Amino acid sequence: MKYRKTNEAAQYLQTNLLGPLKPKVAILTGTGMVGMSNIIANAKKMPYTEIPYFPESTVKSHQGECLVGKYKDTDLIIFSGRFHYYEGYNMEQIVFPIRVMKLLGIEYLIMTNASGGLNEGYNEGDIVMIKDHINLMPRNPLRGKNDDRFGIRFPDMMNAYDKDLRTRISQIMGSSYKEGVYAAMQGPSLETPAEYKMLHTLGADLVGMSTVPEAIAAVHCGLKQAVFSIVSNMCYPPEKLSETNIEDVIRTVQKSSADLVEIIKDLIEKL
Ligand code: HPA
Repeated sequence: MKYRKTNEAAQYLQTNLLGPLKPKVAILTGTGMVGMSNIIANAKKMPYTEIPYFPESTVKSHQGECLVGKYKDTDLIIFSGRFHYYEGYNMEQIVFPIRVMKLLGIEYLIMTNASGGLNEGYNEGDIVMIKDHINLMPRNPLRGKNDDRFGIRFPDMMNAYDKDLRTRISQIMGSSYKEGVYAAMQGPSLETPAEYKMLHTLGADLVGMSTVPEAIAAVHCGLKQAVFSIVSNMCYPPEKLSETNIEDVIRTVQKSSADLVEIIKDLIEKL
């Protein structure tokens, strides 16, 4: 059932949006990353609501549409807007776009998100590559009967955030390159001061409310992924902690997003 619906959505996108395009690279963006869509000149667009079985995005800062076209010579598909656990979606819905990508023939997945910074070496607005995660969400997206057509029952997570891609990105970013461990919380409440301290103690450099379900599904179905996180608010050491609201988060992400778009353009050319 899951496979049939995923396949139907992929077929629909191929026929009605992609046409002759056969992208190997997909981008999935989150909070505040509106500028990413401009990577594609004259993009063809389709709202998520038109794609069969696609969940609908409910967050204002997310557009909820698919864009396709070319960046230079590379065919691209951009999923602008993701689905969060805190919105009430189940894990299967959250990872649906990832599996659609797999059936479209995608090999490389680039994701972005916003996060709280727990590493004293970071600053607000920093672009940090996720190198590993700590999954503190209450469900794993692979729970339930395994569908071998997507991947194996017990996928290994040693190289979940592709080392080779991170090396290439460090060459692009030079001395500004940073990487870290992302802890995924279910949200939507932000963390208490005690929780930020706990997450730092656990070994997390970043905390957010997304991405890990998609990242697990991507490993499961064999996509190579690079995940960029923009630090929107510093949460450690405790003296740096201040009240956070979504408008500030979006403003900070938007300020860094132009730089991130340039890095991603550079990466796409090297894939
Ligand atoms: N906590 C959780 N998610 C977030 C944060 C945070 O401090 N900042 C941006 N997303």
